[in-house]
Amino acid sequence: MKALVLAGGKGTRLRPLTHTSAKQLVPVANKPVLYYGLEAIREAGITDVGIVVGDTAAEVRAAVGDGSMFGLDVTYIPQEAPLGLAHCVLIAREFLGDEPFVLYLGDNFLVGGIAGLVDTFRRADYDAQILLTRVAEPQFYGVAELGPSGEILRLEEKPEHPRSDLAIVGVYIFSPAVHEAVRAITPSARGELEITDAVTWLIDHGSRVHSHLVDGYWKDTGRLQDMLECNRIVLERIEPGVRGTVDRLSEITGRVVVERGAVVENSILRGPIVIGADTKITSSYIGPFTSIGASCLVENAEIDYSIVLDGSSVHGVSRIAHSLIGRNVEVSRATGMPNTHELMVGDHSRIQVPA
Ligand code: TTP
Repeated sequence: MKALVLAGGKGTRLRPLTHTSAKQLVPVANKPVLYYGLEAIREAGITDVGIVVGDTAAEVRAAVGDGSMFGLDVTYIPQEAPLGLAHCVLIAREFLGDEPFVLYLGDNFLVGGIAGLVDTFRRADYDAQILLTRVAEPQFYGVAELGPSGEILRLEEKPEHPRSDLAIVGVYIFSPAVHEAVRAITPSARGELEITDAVTWLIDHGSRVHSHLVDGYWKDTGRLQDMLECNRIVLERIEPGVRGTVDRLSEITGRVVVERGAVVENSILRGPIVIGADTKITSSYIGPFTSIGASCLVENAEIDYSIVLDGSSVHGVSRIAHSLIGRNVEVSRATGMPNTHELMVGDHSRIQVPA
């Protein structure tokens, strides 16, 4: 069995971060979300992995290399434009050959791995296996409608009026039968070759498509709130450890990771949190479910339930919450006029300030 990991796409929902960076490399607990998927693939015993890349190919290549750090043998498959998930399968035809494969969306996060699912597929005689999970807002996902005995009646991509709350999880397993399906379908109204259409084609042509309800935690990290939620889940399970320096005036509670070279002075760290390598935290409060990247500076500030990427500084600001701060960002208190916000913000940014 092989795996096809999708790490191209537009990432419009995570702008402005995705103007400069691949969304699959946004860190969860200071580790790119893509790495969790690659590790899950390796744990399932798969080593031959194709990664579909788009505009951010160079960055993905730099982060994953030849895959050997994960015990994988990685082949990169460039996609000229984000023409859909089924288009990715189409262009990977040569790499995939006639083997079954796992299709893994590079920005998806699945707790519990995929080894069990791969096992089930290997033992059964399915042409495709899709995973479903109950969600609160199905209109944002591919949605499945099931019949009385659990058979799939219909799949719809981001329907305006969803017929169920069963969202399709971004991990699929296919037999080579899918290749005929992706060749047969035509682009949807939004101009993409949809994987839901390919699966529907398989069902309509008498293929055995099995659906499995996942009980573990799953998130598509394409949106800010999902990213923060995913960060929370990973931090809740993190192995605590202080490898940096924490002075006596500081107070640490709960699961806290302080990476090598990090310095914490006169601060309160209330876990679960992770502080990246060479970051300095001074006279600040870092609250639960926060990841601070490497080489950051946090001074006289309060931050909780947030992700701060490498090289950023937060100075004299309280309190930052529910936030995602990109790389090399400066957040500081405005001097001069009171109640003034001085901003230099990238395109498609979102800022919420007190009224
Ligand atoms: P999506 O999240 O469906 O699409 P997107 O990346 O364009 O994001 P947005 O909706 O915010 O604009 O993509 C799921 C995964 O598949 C993601 O990791 C990107 C990847 N992908 C490709 O590699 N090629 C494609 O043609 C598409 C549509 C997605």
